[in-house]
Amino acid sequence: MTSITLRRHLTDAGHDSDLIFLLEDIASACRATAYEVRNGPLKGNLGVAGSTNVQGEDQKPLDIIANDIFLATCANSPRLAALVSEEIEEVVWLKEPKKGDYLLFFDPLDGSSNLDTNLSVGTIFSIMQVAEDGDRNVLRPGSDQLVAGYALYGPATMMVLAAGKGVQSFTLHQGSGIFRLTHADMKIPEGTAEFSINASRQRFWEPPMRAYVDDCLAGKDGPRGVDFNMRWVASMVAEVHRILMRGGVFLYPLDEKNRDMGGRLRLLYEVAPMAKIIEAAGGAASTGRERIMDLVPTEPHQRVPAILGASDEVWRVEAKHAATP
Ligand code: AHG
Ligand code: MN
Ligand code: MN
Repeated sequence: MTSITLRRHLTDAGHDSDLIFLLEDIASACRATAYEVRNGPLKGNLGVAGSTNVQGEDQKPLDIIANDIFLATCANSPRLAALVSEEIEEVVWLKEPKKGDYLLFFDPLDGSSNLDTNLSVGTIFSIMQVAEDGDRNVLRPGSDQLVAGYALYGPATMMVLAAGKGVQSFTLHQGSGIFRLTHADMKIPEGTAEFSINASRQRFWEPPMRAYVDDCLAGKDGPRGVDFNMRWVASMVAEVHRILMRGGVFLYPLDEKNRDMGGRLRLLYEVAPMAKIIEAAGGAASTGRERIMDLVPTEPHQRVPAILGASDEVWRVEAKHAATP
């Protein structure tokens, strides 16, 4: 095994030592979460926990366990001022914020409906910096992110990071517990005929989304002139990872059923971090009408429509929205 370690990569990239400590704490939390996910059925940690989160969703025992792991691990970081978690209603302040301190946004377990069927889940996270001493504003646009990342608990545990230049993927070596660089400078392949959407919601979609998917489904004989493939894991981390590896587009659009909530996925700890990663890998991320990275949140758990992946596909979806208001 010759590939470099996560620590070596972060050090070589010239990151601040406080940021490296925080990223190493996050890596430790991901390692601990991967362990709990793998042992979930043996420890009786499947099913529902009997509680709901701020969004009214049933919490799974592992949603709570992963959240607790992140709290316990990352709260040690000396310059971490606050945490925003999918599983906690309020912002958790850990210290008086000083300029340059870190803000951590995270979805401790993404795709947790997959746990009972032993399919892939993940963790999504994002780091911003406090702008001025005493500034408690966490409602910042995605373009303010210093780092975005996710961990994928699949057949292998991987951590994918957009920190500084490009996107890198690190694989957890199970014996040593060390994350090692396995995919450097990831780029989304263009021209892949694959889309990812929960098609059971088709009857609720807006006309532009129907028009885009109809074109894909028409295959070789349609306007796209090529047969499309479709995949839906119901775990955004898994979908985004597939797109990074082999291209395509992920769509969770606004529809009649989620319009009142503003969409399905949460901006600060799901969509914005994925948008940063996707853009850093040469792709694009949009609501269909606006660039995700430019959106300024109005509340910590705000939801938004999400269309992200290969830039040529995202532009096509935007063009459909522009043509069919
Ligand atoms: P979470 O498990 O954190 O609530 O997120 C699940 C999200 C996302 O990962 C996935 O793309 C989507 O919800 C699945 O939605 P459907 O239930 O419509 O398939
Ligand atoms: Mn999620
Ligand atoms: Mn979650």
